Amino acid sequence: MLKVGNIKLKNPFVLAPMEGVNCLAFRLLCKEFGASLVFSPMIHVNWLVKEKTLPELIEFSEDEKPLAIQLIGNEPKTIKEAVEIIERDVPFVDIIDLNFGCPEGDVLGLKMGAYMMKHPDKIPKIVSAAVASTKLPITAKIRSGWDENSINCIEVGKMIEDAGASAIALHARTRTQVYSGKADWGLIRKLKETLNIPVIGNGDITNAKLAESMLTRTKCDMAMIGRGAMGYPFIFKECAEYYNNGKFNGNLYRPTTKERYDCIYKFIDYYHNKQKRQKFSELKQHIMWSCKWLNGAKELRVDIMKTHDEEDMMKLVEGYFVGRM
Ligand SMILES: Cc1cc2nc3c(=O)[nH]c(=O)nc-3n(C[C@H](O)[C@H](O)[C@H](O)COP(=O)(O)O)c2cc1C
Repeated sequence: MLKVGNIKLKNPFVLAPMEGVNCLAFRLLCKEFGASLVFSPMIHVNWLVKEKTLPELIEFSEDEKPLAIQLIGNEPKTIKEAVEIIERDVPFVDIIDLNFGCPEGDVLGLKMGAYMMKHPDKIPKIVSAAVASTKLPITAKIRSGWDENSINCIEVGKMIEDAGASAIALHARTRTQVYSGKADWGLIRKLKETLNIPVIGNGDITNAKLAESMLTRTKCDMAMIGRGAMGYPFIFKECAEYYNNGKFNGNLYRPTTKERYDCIYKFIDYYHNKQKRQKFSELKQHIMWSCKWLNGAKELRVDIMKTHDEEDMMKLVEGYFVGRM
């Protein structure tokens, strides 16, 4: 039985936290397509503590459970306070995840995210503060290290486990790599061999075969998928159908053009009807991602990019699909 703390997961495929991507509508869709756990985008602890509540447009729903909410911060005291705010405002949350891997300049400037991999002394204090402030499982997401000369994910992973975390996700790239090069799955395997808590492998899974490869080669407990799901929540169906009764021996599912068309409309439906946050630019971005995975849709995406309202955008989408289904 796959578990993070006391939270049971129906399969080992989880949606990675992604700021600017994982709106409620997208998380619901990934869940529906088979993701066993969805992560929120990172939420800044300092913001939460200052405002004493969640921003109105960061929305959650019981329908997306099991749900992990990710926090980013660097002080045990504010992390504790933020965990309490999340538990109060999102009483159905299942897991709180701590971000020690974000490579963005503004985050590093605040001495948060991947900065903590360079200065890991505070990490166990932050994790223990979070663990002590709630009964929910606390997890952490880390990178391989700061740069190729300071790979320390194994040591940091051990510190996080000793501090009481229930699982660790490793995006097996350094901060200096950001998203370049290949994720080093060998480090995921080493982390799994070192720790007793579940290890969630992350980096470069874009189809079910790669998910299989990650799980079998690294022996990690779960595979976390980020960019491979952008515009393609079907990846979770692909993985879940292939992973049959705990083994990779099911069907290798591929969506039809009609299913892709229907999925675009479903996303739009969820975007308008399941969440308050409404921004045409965000909606357009998701539709462009959905089109990225279609054959010969390069021009369509260029045209969609130029649109300013939903009606014009959807005329282009309709035009593309006519005669193709
Ligand atoms: C647009 C975007 C936003 C991201 N936002 C977050 C975030 O909020 N928190 C986090 O821990 N990682 C974030 N990540 C990193 C992903 O969770 C993941 O570690 C990374 O994309 C590698 O996995 P992949 O190869 O499956 O995409 C983000 C990645 C992308 C592409």
